[in-house]
Amino acid sequence: MKHNLFKLTNVLFIFLLSAASLTSQVLPSNTNTWFSASGICELCHGTSATASRDNAGNDVSPITGWRSTMLANAAKDPFWLAKVKHEGIENEHHKEALENVCTRCHAPMGMFNALLESSAGYSLDDLKNDPLGQDGISCTFCHQVNDFPPPLYSGNLGINNQKEIYGPFVSPITQQMIANTGFTPTFSERINDSRLCGTCHTLLTNSVDENGDFTGEMFVEQAIYHEWENSVFGAQNTTCQSCHLPRIEEGVKISSRPGFVAEHSPFGKHNFTGGNVFMLNLLKDNHDELGLKSGVNLMDETINRTKKLLSESTVELTLNEAIQTNDSIFITVNLQNKVGHKFPSGYPSRRAFLECVVTNGADTVFHSGKPGKGALGADKDDFEPHHKIISNEEQVQIYELVMGDTDGDVTTILERAYAQLKDNRMPPVGFSDTHANYDTVRIVGKAENDNEYFSGTGIETVTYSLPLSKIGAQTQVKVSLFYETVPESWVHTMFEKAEEAEEIASFREMYFNADRTPVFIAADSLQFAYTGNSSIENTKFKIYPNPTTGKIKLDGIIGITSFSVFTLNGKLMETGCVQAINPFIEFSAPDGNYILMLMQDDKIQSEKLILRKN
Ligand code: HEC
Ligand code: HEC
Ligand code: HEC
Ligand code: HEC
Ligand code: HEC
Repeated sequence: MKHNLFKLTNVLFIFLLSAASLTSQVLPSNTNTWFSASGICELCHGTSATASRDNAGNDVSPITGWRSTMLANAAKDPFWLAKVKHEGIENEHHKEALENVCTRCHAPMGMFNALLESSAGYSLDDLKNDPLGQDGISCTFCHQVNDFPPPLYSGNLGINNQKEIYGPFVSPITQQMIANTGFTPTFSERINDSRLCGTCHTLLTNSVDENGDFTGEMFVEQAIYHEWENSVFGAQNTTCQSCHLPRIEEGVKISSRPGFVAEHSPFGKHNFTGGNVFMLNLLKDNHDELGLKSGVNLMDETINRTKKLLSESTVELTLNEAIQTNDSIFITVNLQNKVGHKFPSGYPSRRAFLECVVTNGADTVFHSGKPGKGALGADKDDFEPHHKIISNEEQVQIYELVMGDTDGDVTTILERAYAQLKDNRMPPVGFSDTHANYDTVRIVGKAENDNEYFSGTGIETVTYSLPLSKIGAQTQVKVSLFYETVPESWVHTMFEKAEEAEEIASFREMYFNADRTPVFIAADSLQFAYTGNSSIENTKFKIYPNPTTGKIKLDGIIGITSFSVFTLNGKLMETGCVQAINPFIEFSAPDGNYILMLMQDDKIQSEKLILRKN
């Protein structure tokens, strides 16, 4: 009887606990000299019946949008905490200096207050007892930035000393906010300047060698702002804010008090949606343990928005019609990057990869890019090169940045990063290697020879080549693009130090309990049957002369067209671009019979080419 009662209260207790974390917790209302925590702003800019609602009645208040984002949780993010510890363990004599660097962007209201008050620094220990630091990238940080002094990176922002809160609207009512918070709402264009985001989203590190001594070189760890500058979005000043704080054009009352506030438009929603579904889920799973304030329900909203952004606004994937030669079949995948910067971008652990599955009825006859296997497994001593053509299952297309140390070995220790070994992340539309900032956003590795990366179209293509023997009466090819923010290969070196720091041990446990399924971005599929005939037909361009001694003229091409030359077994020999105004191609491949493929938009044409140099 007693035993049963105990169990019952236990169940009840667990129920109450989980019920509590469904909805939001009280936000901190602490202040320091320079900043106030988000709880102070909630009174007028939080959930309200009369203000911060769209026409459909949805709560679009800054507090509700922000509190479940990575920005709000940047200083409680267990990966970040573990990584700061890890970097300190790897280089004991830089531990203190590193903590000062890391807290600058992840806990700015703690770190900047310390800086401006001339403190020696701001460590993880300081952060532990500081509700302001733990409030992450919060309201009074972004809204007090009044200067973008050079250099424009590593969180080098100016904060005003007049207690002015900058906003997008001219002549706001000031009295209520001053009385309640001590801050004066003030119009400023700076709030919608991309530099506000870009200065924290560009990170250069001072690289160290194996002894932990500075090499004197800087490593570009994150360069979203530069990627954006080097794109059509930067050129047209389509700001970070315009994509990440989506606007509603209808009028919205921006404060719940006083009762007479007028409606303003446009109104920016504080969604800050990015791509980190994995970490948002992990935060949700450990909401109470991590001391988060968002509530599980709002975490779910941010997670769903993130999945939506990834599947609707990130990359378009289409398969071209299959091309069949005497012994192979070629399937080309077109990827169009729609993002305002590289995809993936940001923190160097981010990667996207292609999975290609070929089936004949129930049989899988080809499978490249199986999640968690081979190059997508936990090992990171080596890395997969960029591919233009994939002809065996061991090869997989992975879009990623790979950091190398001073010995040229792969590293995931941020401070040891010295040079990129690979960067084939898809460039944005308008990207160019002649842009003034190209040095900080370089394409590195085999992709350097892939002309598409420099075409400015944001398009990248990969061709799968399969032997005809794999093709049956009814063959299906499905190619999918997936995204991972924290792959195991990126954390396993850190996990080896779990005994040395509680933060690493507890993150490791959360990590292996979390859902690590890669997030779906896009897919396309194709069905075809083996016909026994070569399908190279409906050719609209003509080659002169053919056979050729090396230089040919193409008749009938339009605009800029990319071309690839394959052997009849599907081996890629050359790629390049050819323009209608200069329609010549010169080949360096040895004598032989080849397939010349021309690709434009989603169209592919091909022709057999005979090369006889003498
Ligand atoms: C200049 C600002 C800045 C500084 C300084 C900085 N970071 Fe970050 N960090 C960021 C930004 C911005 C992101 C998010 C980028 C993204 O989502 O792709 C990030 C993301 C991360 C993540 C990934 C978190 C996740 O949940 O996936 C880790 C880990 C991390 N930082 C560790 C560190 C460490 C360790 C330091 C100190 C050596 C540091 N950061 C210093 C700006 C900074
Ligand atoms: C007592 C209510 C109240 C509190 C608390 C409050 N505000 Fe305001 N806020 C207002 C009012 C009123 C306006 C102006 C509304 C108008 O003119 O339509 C405003 C305007 C703003 C604006 C827009 C300014 C512009 O010119 O575009 C921002 C940004 C802002 N507040 C941020 C904050 C932040 C950050 C906090 C927390 C430190 C905060 N507010 C706390 C009442 C408040
Ligand atoms: C004080 C520095 C700072 C400023 C200013 C800043 N950010 Fe960030 N931002 C961060 C950090 C740090 C993270 C990563 C936190 C983490 O993952 O632990 C981040 C994460 C993000 C993410 C990733 C969310 C996800 O789920 O993947 C987006 C999107 C983002 N910021 C957009 C912006 C935009 C837009 C602005 C400008 C309006 C901005 N940020 C201003 C530091 C900053
Ligand atoms: C044209 C719209 C657009 C613009 C402009 C834009 N972004 Fe993004 N951003 C996206 C989309 C879509 C994603 C999701 C796909 C991804 O993760 O890259 C994203 C993702 C991100 C992420 C998460 C990256 C990751 O996966 O870790 C960060 C951080 C970010 N953006 C910051 C910025 C900053 C800072 C700027 C301005 C310099 C900016 N964005 C400009 C559309 C945009
Ligand atoms: C990462 C930077 C950033 C953070 C953090 C941030 N804001 Fe904003 N806020 C902006 C930007 C950018 C705009 C302008 C949006 C626009 O014009 O479309 C804005 C606009 C506003 C406005 C005017 C109404 C609107 O949404 O357009 C208010 C009020 C406001 N913020 C309050 C807050 C409060 C309260 C918080 C804390 C929960 C907060 N902000 C956190 C960047 C930020």
